[in-house]
Amino acid sequence: MVRVSHHLLLCATPTKALCCPDPELGAASWARLKQLVRELGLENPAREQGIVLRTKADCLRICAEGPILLIWPDGVIYGGVSAERVERIIKEHVISGVPIETWVVGRNQFGR
Ligand code: FES
Repeated sequence: MVRVSHHLLLCATPTKALCCPDPELGAASWARLKQLVRELGLENPAREQGIVLRTKADCLRICAEGPILLIWPDGVIYGGVSAERVERIIKEHVISGVPIETWVVGRNQFGR
């Protein structure tokens, strides 16, 4: 089984559009996220830290300040995740391990 370092869940184009009324904003963030994960080699099974999974979620139960991005296993929830913000979040948080606190809207420690 392939090792996984992170799982990125983006509420990009939710059915009820509660967190982000503009579907184009979320769609652009999702497109950029997919592109960066691919370009930065984060899906490479040979990556020492493990691969980065990505999922377009319908709703992450935050429902404000979207698009919302949850980064597992850290439990960090980012708000206002525009296509521009995605790049910094992936490079600084996912790759370098330093969350961008000013964009964090919540944390979930998954029962820890
Ligand atoms: S609609 Fe995006 S978090 Fe609920």
